[in-house]
Amino acid sequence: MKKKFKFIDLFAGIGGFHQAMTQLGGECVFASEIDPYAIETYFKNYGINSECNIRNVKVENIPKHDVLCAGFPCQAFSKAGHQKGFKDETKGTLFFEIERILNYHKTKYIILENVKNLLTHDHGRTWKVIYKHLKQIGYRLTEKPIVLSPHELGIPQLRDRVVILGIYDPDNKKKDLKIEFDNLKTKQDNDIFNIIERKKVSKKYYISEHEKYVLNAWDEFYNGINDKIIGFPIWYDYFKKKPETKMPNWKKEFIRKNNELYKRNKDFIDTWAKKYNYLSEFNKTQRKFEWQCGKEITSLWDGIIQFRPSGIRVKNTNCFPALVALVQIPIIGKYRRRLTVREAARLQSFPDAFVCNQCDQQAYKQFGNAVNVEVIKQSFEKLINYKEEQLNE
Ligand SMILES: C[S@@+](CC[C@H](N)C(=O)[O-])C[C@H]1O[C@@H](n2cnc3c(N)ncnc32)[C@H](O)[C@@H]1O
Repeated sequence: MKKKFKFIDLFAGIGGFHQAMTQLGGECVFASEIDPYAIETYFKNYGINSECNIRNVKVENIPKHDVLCAGFPCQAFSKAGHQKGFKDETKGTLFFEIERILNYHKTKYIILENVKNLLTHDHGRTWKVIYKHLKQIGYRLTEKPIVLSPHELGIPQLRDRVVILGIYDPDNKKKDLKIEFDNLKTKQDNDIFNIIERKKVSKKYYISEHEKYVLNAWDEFYNGINDKIIGFPIWYDYFKKKPETKMPNWKKEFIRKNNELYKRNKDFIDTWAKKYNYLSEFNKTQRKFEWQCGKEITSLWDGIIQFRPSGIRVKNTNCFPALVALVQIPIIGKYRRRLTVREAARLQSFPDAFVCNQCDQQAYKQFGNAVNVEVIKQSFEKLINYKEEQLNE
């Protein structure tokens, strides 16, 4: 789109939408956010004060705009409202704030983002209510939201998200938009080393000697046992223990598999366990191990490793798992270090010029909450092109 357009950025975070829209020629005329750290990062990068609770904003005070962007929190709608009548159905939820703005401004284009769970949330009712309410205002929408992950666009992160696209067109609102993506990439078409820094990074990202010790032990374990494709979590503490009757069936099944794996590899495992002091220096979660790479790699050091509450998980290096929780920053085995903040930014398609929050914990959290810039950019381009195709008919 060559012409300049104006957009508003609701639930703005650190501005994933802002990045996408300005790259397409847009100008931000209003942003709203309540998290002080996100407000700070937003201001540093865009010079806009996003501090305001959207619930307290009068719609008349929001400037005129062509595009409404929002990655809103997913909340269940009131069932009472549903029974009483559609009007009160969304009151009190953050979606209602979007609805309130659209009812007044009749914004030409909308682009909303949410977790994939939105589709199944409240037995599918959440999506149905959103669809119904947006149609009621006068929007043409796709029948189902688009589900897109950065890895499908060649960015090595698995992160399925829904994107809701709409055009204000009351006369044609009954006609669903037909927007599809083609030539999408698969997980195997990706490679994390496309975004990884090759040179040395700050010391703070390298794993500790203790972490190395633990990972070396599990690497030796994997190479020593005869099983190579392991479809269940390995629980060292359950190699010899029998399941208890009161345990749930799934747990009994995992324990039975661990007993069998131990029996098949008894000689090796006994020597290994003795060498590592029966894992006495490992904490509880380090005594569990999940190999999720099939036969694609042969050493843990060739994979992506995460210290998760459920154990140590190893995956291969096509894609990173979705950036979410802070405690599970992925480790790049080959480099013996965690993903840096800059690499996290790249996984969300933020440019290298982006100024990240000085506090790493905040920065990871902010990128974990953000939208992937490329996912939004390419989705919005589809919407704009669609409109043009329709007008040219
Ligand atoms: C999923 S994040 C959106 C991140 C954003 N799309 C980005 O790219 O960084 C949702 C944001 O909504 C903000 N939020 C929640 N309630 C709000 C409210 N009442 N007014 C403004 N912002 C709100 C949260 O602080 C959070 O940063």
